[in-house]
Amino acid sequence: MSRTVFVNGTFLPEEDATISIFDRGFLMADGVYEVTSVLGGKLIDFVGHMVRLDRSLRELDMPSPATHDELLAIHRKLVAENKIVDGMVYLQVTRGNPGDRDFAFPDPKLTKPTLVLFTQNKPGMAESPVANHGIRVISIPDLRWGRRDIKTVQLLYPSMGKMLAKAEGCDDAWMVEDGFVTEGTSNNTYIVKGNTIITRDLSHDILHGITRVAVLRCAQEAQLQVIERPFTIAEALTADEAFFTSASAFVMPVVEVDGTAIGTGKPGPIATRLRDVYLDEMRKQAL
Ligand code: PDD
Repeated sequence: MSRTVFVNGTFLPEEDATISIFDRGFLMADGVYEVTSVLGGKLIDFVGHMVRLDRSLRELDMPSPATHDELLAIHRKLVAENKIVDGMVYLQVTRGNPGDRDFAFPDPKLTKPTLVLFTQNKPGMAESPVANHGIRVISIPDLRWGRRDIKTVQLLYPSMGKMLAKAEGCDDAWMVEDGFVTEGTSNNTYIVKGNTIITRDLSHDILHGITRVAVLRCAQEAQLQVIERPFTIAEALTADEAFFTSASAFVMPVVEVDGTAIGTGKPGPIATRLRDVYLDEMRKQAL
């Protein structure tokens, strides 16, 4: 069934939605995005995603296409029109269509940003059976650019990483730079030792995950110790548990890295508990 999508101020059927061939998102990957989950018809951590969107735009000197209130209204209308109970809203802002190809940024007074939003329907997404048996990852070198804290649409290497994982019969890849894990192809990574959760500290090297903030808060409330520092694949292999977080997967147990089982080889109690606590908390605050 055709979705209703949003393009530059207009709600329209997906087959009628168009973007210029000169759009800088298309030509230069000059765009940023956010993915906000929907559970029970409500938006999960909407404010967090909008605050990060503003930061991404600021870091790239890109004008903001709409206020948070306007964006909230668009999200809600798309969720309602497309009857999304569980799923996602994808939002993308690009530097727009300057009418030609040029490396220099166009004058923002003359070229308006492009704003696109669409929904993805994922019925029962929080009850994913994958979370019950956990996922298997491989490690790959991190060959991305140096500003991974900006949520740009340059997703070719993460896509290649997923394909490399698939070729090995695995689900995802953890990227490694200078001997330390940066993050997963589309998620933040964690290991657990006893009652301590270890996850890479924030810098330009990783995306500042919105789910990460909420999950670390849940962990602290559950009296778990959190240490923010890099870890190696060797350290992950000797951990009791591993998991990753993202807006679309929530808290996802990782049961195998590079063919070696982590802990018991089954989703660990801490990852499982954090997933439940996180989902409970976020459903309560959903907009
Ligand atoms: N990905 N790191 C990377 C490289 C990501 O692409 C993502 C999110 C995260 C987790 O961020 P958050 O918790 O804010 O979703 C970390 C989204 C879900 C995606 O690209 O679909």
